[in-house]
Amino acid sequence: MAITSLFNFSNIFLFLSNLLILRSRIAFSSIAHDLGFSVRLIHQDSPLSPFYNHSMTSFDRIQAAARRSISRLNHFHSLITASSSLSTSTRREDIASRLIPDSGEYTMSFSIGSPPIQVHAIADTGSDFIWLQCPCKSCSHQSTEIPIVFEPSESSSYRSLSCDSFGCDAVGAARTCTNPYQSCEYSITYLDGSITKGTFSVDKFAFEDPRRSNNHVDVGSLRFGCSHETSWHVNSTYIGAVGLNRLPLSLISQLNMRKFSYCMVIPNDQGSGSKMYFGSQAVISGGRTPFLEGEDWFYYVTVVGISVGDGRVPLPDGVFNRTDSGEGGFVIDSGTTYTTLRSEAYDALIKALGEATPLPQRKGPVYWLELCFEGSFEDLDLAPDVSFQFDGTEVILMKQSTYVEVQEGLWCLSIVRSDRLLSTLGNVQQQNYLVGYDLDEEVVSFAPADCATF
Ligand SMILES: *[C@@H]1O[C@H](CO)[C@@H](O)[C@H](O)[C@H]1NC(C)=O
Ligand SMILES: *[C@@H]1O[C@H](CO)[C@@H](O)[C@H](O)[C@H]1NC(C)=O
Ligand SMILES: *[C@@H]1O[C@H](CO)[C@@H](O)[C@H](O)[C@H]1NC(C)=O
Repeated sequence: MAITSLFNFSNIFLFLSNLLILRSRIAFSSIAHDLGFSVRLIHQDSPLSPFYNHSMTSFDRIQAAARRSISRLNHFHSLITASSSLSTSTRREDIASRLIPDSGEYTMSFSIGSPPIQVHAIADTGSDFIWLQCPCKSCSHQSTEIPIVFEPSESSSYRSLSCDSFGCDAVGAARTCTNPYQSCEYSITYLDGSITKGTFSVDKFAFEDPRRSNNHVDVGSLRFGCSHETSWHVNSTYIGAVGLNRLPLSLISQLNMRKFSYCMVIPNDQGSGSKMYFGSQAVISGGRTPFLEGEDWFYYVTVVGISVGDGRVPLPDGVFNRTDSGEGGFVIDSGTTYTTLRSEAYDALIKALGEATPLPQRKGPVYWLELCFEGSFEDLDLAPDVSFQFDGTEVILMKQSTYVEVQEGLWCLSIVRSDRLLSTLGNVQQQNYLVGYDLDEEVVSFAPADCATF
């Protein structure tokens, strides 16, 4: 049966060129141009999150967030090397790893089906697919602990899509289609052995929008994956995702939206939450930097320097350039917690910051906390600001976005070392900036903001 044949793809080039063709051809939606809405983003370490784990200590959370940042970077790396190098079968499998098992920080809530039910899923600028955990069909692998978020048989507007339906080819390499009339099934295996299988489907979506009088906005039918068999190899409670990159199946592509923005508060801040704005509600303001061209999977930007106070950190030439094979570079990402810098840049930053800060220094309680200062939060004012210079604008980090308190009176740099060539700007370092993505202008904008008051 097709469902059981993993990665039966014949030609990775076909997959990639399909995506390119589809991008220009697909016009999924007939939604009005002025559509706009906002959603609340809930950090998974917030007590408001459905995934909040009460028994974790704050240090557990910091460690888990760092582990997620590194594993997400490795995931990006494997996608990049898979699309640039086709030499081994393992690498071919990576390209399909869209349903990232161990990623994502912020969930958004929306409703789906008729009658509509409320669901939560990860908001992910580093993937394209929308998917939700559905009840399992053949439960041999599925852990009983995986919560079901969507029951297709209870929605009158749900339809599974067949292999010849619009959009099934964009599912790409993960499809297990053998004939056009069969339902469009996908089957994805991760490097760590996790597997998820599902049916490409369509149903009605609506987003919450507190700015509207009826509190929600119908966006019509969207295509998504209904995952009906999942076995995670890692500790994971992810049960759905909303991809926000520029590939054809992402939320913004399906809605034909050319702008979105977000404003993230410091996690654990009680009360007010982070928000994401789409379409006509998106705000593009402040300094801008262009996205690098020719890249639809991730949002690459150009970093020209890192500063500590007024001094430029001495970085090797071209340390954030991409190689000819596509490795390296600098990606802005909503789903990575802590900024990760490739080693050459990381070494230079911690050396410069350590030398410029008149506070007692210590190594952290775990190896990846390489630079920590002793003192109170107020003492951190003695440390110069860390800032990133992009091509065209600058992001200056607040102290709360630079350090994390791992023990009482011990503040560690919340930027971690990448063991790859790739670097990412994580969401902790984007806190209290209104970050706007404009896909027509091909820019990302940064405006300092008190996100808690939005
Ligand atoms: C919650 O955290 C505790 C402590 O780290 C851990 O033992 C437990 O497995 C976690 N529960 C879930 C559902 O992840
Ligand atoms: C799963 O969680 C436990 C307890 O939190 C942890 O010790 C273990 O390393 C985790 N496993 C993986 C693969 O991350
Ligand atoms: C890095 O990229 C910049 C901008 O494209 C270019 O000017 C520079 O020469 C590159 N440096 C190296 C070492 O490749």
